[in-house]
Amino acid sequence: MVQKVQITIDGKSIELNVLEASEGNNVVDVRGLIAEGIFTYDPGFLSTASCDSKITYIDGDAGILLYRGYAIEQLASQASHLEVCYLLLNGELPSSTQLAEFDASLKDKQTVDKQFQQIFNGFARGAHPMSMVGAAISGLASLYHESTDITDAENRKTTAQRLIAIIPTIAAMAYKHGRGETFVEPDPSLGYAENFLNMCFGETGKPSTISPVIAEAMDKIFILHADHEQNASTSTVRMAGSTDCNPYAAISAGVSALWGPAHGGANEAVLDMLMEIGDVSRVAEYVEKAKDKDDPFKLMGFGHRVYKNFDPRAKVMESYCAAVLAERGVENDPLLKIAKALEKIAREDDYFISRKLYPNIDFYSGITLKAVGIPTELFTVIFTLGRMPGWVTHWDEMLSAPYKIARPRQLYLGEHQRDFIALDAR
Ligand code: ACO
Repeated sequence: MVQKVQITIDGKSIELNVLEASEGNNVVDVRGLIAEGIFTYDPGFLSTASCDSKITYIDGDAGILLYRGYAIEQLASQASHLEVCYLLLNGELPSSTQLAEFDASLKDKQTVDKQFQQIFNGFARGAHPMSMVGAAISGLASLYHESTDITDAENRKTTAQRLIAIIPTIAAMAYKHGRGETFVEPDPSLGYAENFLNMCFGETGKPSTISPVIAEAMDKIFILHADHEQNASTSTVRMAGSTDCNPYAAISAGVSALWGPAHGGANEAVLDMLMEIGDVSRVAEYVEKAKDKDDPFKLMGFGHRVYKNFDPRAKVMESYCAAVLAERGVENDPLLKIAKALEKIAREDDYFISRKLYPNIDFYSGITLKAVGIPTELFTVIFTLGRMPGWVTHWDEMLSAPYKIARPRQLYLGEHQRDFIALDAR
């Protein structure tokens, strides 16, 4: 049955359609309100759907995350990241032939043009790798001309695949540049995650020495980050893309949005926080700081806009985190001890329980990445790498159907019109 919502504006009754979701909340279609001379007000999009989408579904209360209808737990335990990328982009899981073709197509696109590699030399050694990654992605617009015709579905597919293929190379280059080390060429004989790790820690022409446990954990980190419906960075990609800008420009806008500590920067912030706490004996003091309304400090890696239950990705990550710690023999690392103590206290404290603040994926991915040997400043880059399939899929979904430039309205609270006062009269 078609649902309707009735509102009254200045005594006039207006009927609004309710659009039915295949899962989750239905939405009130307010598009007709502009004709009534009124807008809706929802800073931070707490109650507003900015688009329709068939890619990812989250039930934050139940702790459910589905990519194209498949539960994240099943994908993380049974699929590779490449299968997940294919699933997101194409809507269905690949057959083995489709997967092999997809893999080959990606491997064809993973090398960064030699001259373009010079872009990294413009950055100081200490530059944050997110600034290098954002600039490099934006700069790719200068190289690939198929990206200029975004109305062509084949071109969009090529661009999407290129971005998924090239982001590990760019991420590893940002890491290597920061350390003043020579870039390592992609090795097409390696899987997606192992190739990335090898470009960070290996040498060109030498066989990979990356442990399978570490490569698998990295592959899982990528799967768990691959998409998360209309999060801040994905919405940014859609918003920038809605202007018909070059896709590399739209994706680099997403990189910028992801960088913030309230979003992708949280995994880095978790480690910074653990270092600041410094000792297990100070954990209780920091929990009190997080609860103090007069103190801006928050427990990084706790809470989520959508999950008001355990983040299902955090549960999966917890088990891979344990495997990596065991493999590296670092279960007794002092920072990890602080993390465990923090998690225990926060999960028993009424402040966190009543506000449904659970550890999120960043809490465990930060600890795992540290054990893998990834430097803290590269954590958000890893998130960028993982989120790439989601960004390009959302961008492609938007462009595959009619869309409008994203242009929000505002509630203006400024001055009424007034006369200009000449400089000497002020
Ligand atoms: N530590 C202490 N208190 C918190 C925390 C936290 N990490 N997170 C939320 N709260 C409190 C708020 O102060 C607020 O308290 P109040 O009701 O007494 O005012 C209440 O919990 C609700 O929080 P909001 O800020 O309204 O929640 P919102 O949905 O706007 O924010 C966010 C979610 C940004 C993730 C927030 O929880 C946060 O800053 N967490 C820490 C950063 C982090 O881990 N970010 C990663 C997000 S996940 C991701 O990007 C993969």
